[in-house]
Amino acid sequence: MNTVRCAVLVSGGGTNLQALINAKQAGELPHVEFAAVIASRPDAYALTRAQNAGIPTHVVQRKGSTQAAFEQGILDALNACRADMIILAGFMSILSEDFVKRYPRRILNVHPALLPAFGGKGYYGLRVHEAALQRGVKVTGATVHYVNEIADGGEIILQKAVDVLPGDTPETLQRRVMEQAEWILLPRAAEMAAQEILNNR
Ligand code: GAR
Repeated sequence: MNTVRCAVLVSGGGTNLQALINAKQAGELPHVEFAAVIASRPDAYALTRAQNAGIPTHVVQRKGSTQAAFEQGILDALNACRADMIILAGFMSILSEDFVKRYPRRILNVHPALLPAFGGKGYYGLRVHEAALQRGVKVTGATVHYVNEIADGGEIILQKAVDVLPGDTPETLQRRVMEQAEWILLPRAAEMAAQEILNNR
């Protein structure tokens, strides 16, 4: 079959997942098939988005679990849905070196800044935008990159710049970065990565 089975890992609202679902429904992801959505929290609204789109869901709770048990749970879910590619779409847990080594150039992450700026440990979600505003940058953006064993160190697939405007709060900046960059880049990068996997099969 000429598609790549893809698992989307989420922790929160799932607007990036929604962008992927919308792109698929619009015919923009001919080589991507959503095998499952895996959430690290049972209350992630992303789960509802997946269910509404008819995508199978799994919850593997981070809270109250060791890193090893958490990752084993994710691996079990990935194996159960036979995923060849993983998209971290607002996934707020760090995956170990051992885990990411199993999926070379098979894990994509969307990060809400222009890496290597505002990346690495502690930079996630709104904190990234708080840091950008604090530093006073006039341009920020989003990055989609492959994940390797160095945090935020994998090869960059796509980036897009977004203006920081006077009076921005972390929330207004986050929204603009999502609308103008993340929701556009992530589906595009997913299709590119899927095509690469298919070309190498
Ligand atoms: C997005 O802005 C995503 O880039 C960011 O969390 C948000 C999730 O929103 N991810 C990270 O910070 C990862 N380092 P969503 O759940 O609505 O897609």
